[in-house]
Amino acid sequence: MRIGVFCSGGDAPGMNACVRSVVRTATVHGHEVVGIMRGYHGMIHGEFFVDSDGQSHLTPYRVTTWAAHGGAHLRSSRSEEFRTDSGQLAAADMLRKNQIDAIIPIGGDGTFNGATALSKHWDGQIVGCPGTIDNDLMGTDYTIGFSTAVQTAVEAVDKIRDTASSHDRMFLVEVMGRHSGYIALYTAMAAGADVVAIPETDTNFTEIISHLNRLKNQGRTMAIMVIAEGDEKGGAELINTQLKQHDCPFQTRTIVLGHLQRGGSPTPEDRRRATQMGNGAVKAILAGENGVMIGTRDDHCVSVPFEETYASHRPVSLDLLAVFNEMAP
Ligand code: F6P
Repeated sequence: MRIGVFCSGGDAPGMNACVRSVVRTATVHGHEVVGIMRGYHGMIHGEFFVDSDGQSHLTPYRVTTWAAHGGAHLRSSRSEEFRTDSGQLAAADMLRKNQIDAIIPIGGDGTFNGATALSKHWDGQIVGCPGTIDNDLMGTDYTIGFSTAVQTAVEAVDKIRDTASSHDRMFLVEVMGRHSGYIALYTAMAAGADVVAIPETDTNFTEIISHLNRLKNQGRTMAIMVIAEGDEKGGAELINTQLKQHDCPFQTRTIVLGHLQRGGSPTPEDRRRATQMGNGAVKAILAGENGVMIGTRDDHCVSVPFEETYASHRPVSLDLLAVFNEMAP
């Protein structure tokens, strides 16, 4: 069997570890893996990974150190062309022309939506792995990249606290999460922030200001607020403007961590999860599965139909938010 593997959508630390696992698992079971470059874009245009020695399939030796590498060696993209019927037809033709029997996309909801569209034009097997720092895919309790993103954000907040403290300021730290408060809440909890704003709950300025006033009256001279970029009241800049309008008791500064959160060597958790999911995806293909993402629940691999993964966004636990709120003095 010839299996194509690719990364798609926003890159996530651990994608390379997942590719490595796919290559090693498939090879152990006597199958060949080819790397498709730049996601669906590369599939349409026939861009495949070719080694410096001209080798066109990925060997276990070639991916030796990939578990530790950030970024996506196979590159990634968000392909506008693939959203069209003609793009999907061209991608399907390219897979047939290259005798690919099955593909493993590593990505998020857009990637699996694309996989469903492709399956209307191509009858090979498609089994995906969840790769997005947002951790917001339905059907899995984890997506590759989340742990590293939180680690990066927590390290950043720890540093920002130093300067916030020196200047008696409040910092509004915006983290990624277009539809989800996962990165924001986990970062806020781990970094000991004072306030968090997430899309899953209403951001109430009156409550925030009274909390900040309470801190100020207790003698606090600085504060940290973590904001998910997808908060319904806006990102750090917009929220800052609104806090000022509500007479924020602290002098404020904003920082947007942005794509910094998508880079860096993956944490052990991301490497382990990516290895487990990549292995699970190959085994699912060998078992004849199709149209599913291999996620995990309670540390076991589970198959989730693609349609389920993008039907909505997995919200962060409100129980966890309640714990965070009880940490407020
Ligand atoms: O989906 C992952 C993500 O990092 C989101 O958190 C963020 O909104 C988006 O990708 C940014 O995408 P791009 O790299 O295309 O700007």
